[in-house]
Amino acid sequence: MPVPQSLDPAYIPRHVAIIMDGNGRWAKSHNKPRLFGHKAGVDSVQKIVECAGEFGIEVLTLYAFSTENWKRPVDEVGGLMGLLKNYLQAELSKMLNNNIRLICIGNIKKLPQDVRDVLENTIKETAANDKLILNLALSYGGRAELIRGIKSIADKVRSGTLKSSEIDEGCIDRHLYTADIPDPDLLIRTGGEARLSNFLLWQASYAEIYFTDTMWPEFREKAFVDAIIEYQSRERRFGQTSAQLIKG
Ligand code: IPE
Ligand code: IPE
Ligand code: MG
Repeated sequence: MPVPQSLDPAYIPRHVAIIMDGNGRWAKSHNKPRLFGHKAGVDSVQKIVECAGEFGIEVLTLYAFSTENWKRPVDEVGGLMGLLKNYLQAELSKMLNNNIRLICIGNIKKLPQDVRDVLENTIKETAANDKLILNLALSYGGRAELIRGIKSIADKVRSGTLKSSEIDEGCIDRHLYTADIPDPDLLIRTGGEARLSNFLLWQASYAEIYFTDTMWPEFREKAFVDAIIEYQSRERRFGQTSAQLIKG
């Protein structure tokens, strides 16, 4: 699959982050149980990962499970964990063939041990790959991430390895799960809601945000291309004026 003609190959977002929402409502609209929607959502994940690699995106972050999602019914949480484990097992060979490196952000200590084992194995097996970074946000919450980072900074200040005067944006960046990856350029939320739901609160400060009513199980190549076309039509000013940007 080549880069579609409708996209400018010189202006592909380096990092795309996606809030994959709408599986449950999509299932309901088909008179099916919620897990049916999550299964169809996995097919979208496979497709979008493939596209991201082809389009030359460097990092694709997928919000797969939030800190708040632990509050869902036990059956649904169990179903999602099972799907995650199956996905990782089924996709390992593809990740290796397509030079995809898997990483994750979030409090993975909370995941069931068997899921964690598969996750850690996938991370290890794909560690040398360098075409696309697939970053799964699992048991992830932006606030929890900030608390963790702030605690670590506070410990360093207390022990004298860091001065409080050295705390700047770069320092905060280095104490987040995302220390090694660039901030998202494009943040997509499917499923019709217009909120961040505790996702990448620090990192998304200058992301272009794209909300679509398309439910995640229906978000496939065409919808992804449309989101990138919209991104490419935006002017990222970072506080400056349009005229300043044109002058360079
Ligand atoms: C997103 O779909 C998947 C997860 C949050 C794990 P939802 O399950 O939130 O679907 P809706 O929002 O209920 O339709
Ligand atoms: C956000 O979706 C989390 C993920 C997509 C993993 P939710 O469906 O959990 O968000 P809220 O609760 O509607 O804000
Ligand atoms: Mg939802």
